[in-house]
Amino acid sequence: MAIRYEHIKTCKQTGARIGKLHTPHGTIDTPIFMPVGTLATVKTMTPEELADIGSQIILSNTYHLWLRPGSDIIREAGGLHKFMNWDRPILTDSGGFQVFSLSDRRKIEEEGVHFRSHLDGSKLFLSPEKAMDIQHDLGSDIMMAFDECPPFPAEKKYVKDSIERTSRWAERCLNHHVKEGHDKNQALFGIVQGGEYSDLRAQSAKELVAMDFPGYSIGGLSVGEPKPIMYRVLEETVPFLPEDKPRYLMGVGSPDALIEGVIRGIDMFDCVLPTRIARNGTTMTSKGRVVVKNKKFERDFTPLDPGCDCYTCRNYTKAYLRHLFKTDEILGLRLTTYHNLYFLLKLMEDIRTAILNDQLMDFKEAFFESYGLNVE
Ligand code: GUN
Ligand code: ZN
Repeated sequence: MAIRYEHIKTCKQTGARIGKLHTPHGTIDTPIFMPVGTLATVKTMTPEELADIGSQIILSNTYHLWLRPGSDIIREAGGLHKFMNWDRPILTDSGGFQVFSLSDRRKIEEEGVHFRSHLDGSKLFLSPEKAMDIQHDLGSDIMMAFDECPPFPAEKKYVKDSIERTSRWAERCLNHHVKEGHDKNQALFGIVQGGEYSDLRAQSAKELVAMDFPGYSIGGLSVGEPKPIMYRVLEETVPFLPEDKPRYLMGVGSPDALIEGVIRGIDMFDCVLPTRIARNGTTMTSKGRVVVKNKKFERDFTPLDPGCDCYTCRNYTKAYLRHLFKTDEILGLRLTTYHNLYFLLKLMEDIRTAILNDQLMDFKEAFFESYGLNVE
């Protein structure tokens, strides 16, 4: 077994849990947020900076790296860790989601998906086996099964056919992964789908749990559904997942959803949100979102977040950050990205401490009191 989940404690106030996930590149504390490095780089951040702010694991993407530079080149470089100079754990998504979110023309068959490259329109084909081969080349610690992520909303009949195909694909992924002998060094997670439908979520979870993956993802959420639906689906899905395996909610990274997800038993999260909004000048602070380009900061010589002790907040003012964004200076992108990731990683650390002290509900109330209920 490539990874092992160690349960540490369950919060008496909320039922949220903290644990340790042991991987071939080291141990991570859960619940955890994973910064996204789609193209083998967390945009603007060096690996040393990522480590400095406490990133324990990052996520990268099969689909993008397959197209550029090509997974053969990364294999020849000695794997993704070496290629990008990051020696802590890496999780890779399977490409399933990207095929559905980035390509407009696609044809789903039992064998796999025919689609067009989002770069040049050329014809491509991804299958469960192909998604495994690419992730073996990348050498990630945690790999994802090749799934289909239905849009929201979607007809029940469509979603039912889709989860049944996703289960068959998951089985093919697992067989290929084990046959190729990579299961000792790389852990493969199954992905639960089922849209907003409780019975389909239960069916999907049961089918995947029967295949005995070392961890489970919950996919198909944060695809445009209202937050209460996402929270209900989590409440209805998590009870079907084993207690001794990690649970990963894919594509979720707003502070409110992180807290609500942890309370519902989630251990791992990833999202482009903090890094993407940082690059257009939007930051997350203890008092809610701050848009640094705002005219009102022209002469504001105070830090972005007086309650933050990150490099950006210790050394620069809102007026300076605004100036960098107004003049398209590269340093602006770096400083806001640095702060946003620091903020979310610190939030997860605070959540873990609150669980340890059986105080996560108190923490949640205090957090929202300051952050505001401007759910994102
Ligand atoms: N990232 C966010 N949601 C999903 C999903 O449903 N499937 C996959 N593979 N990746 C995701
Ligand atoms: Zn800061």
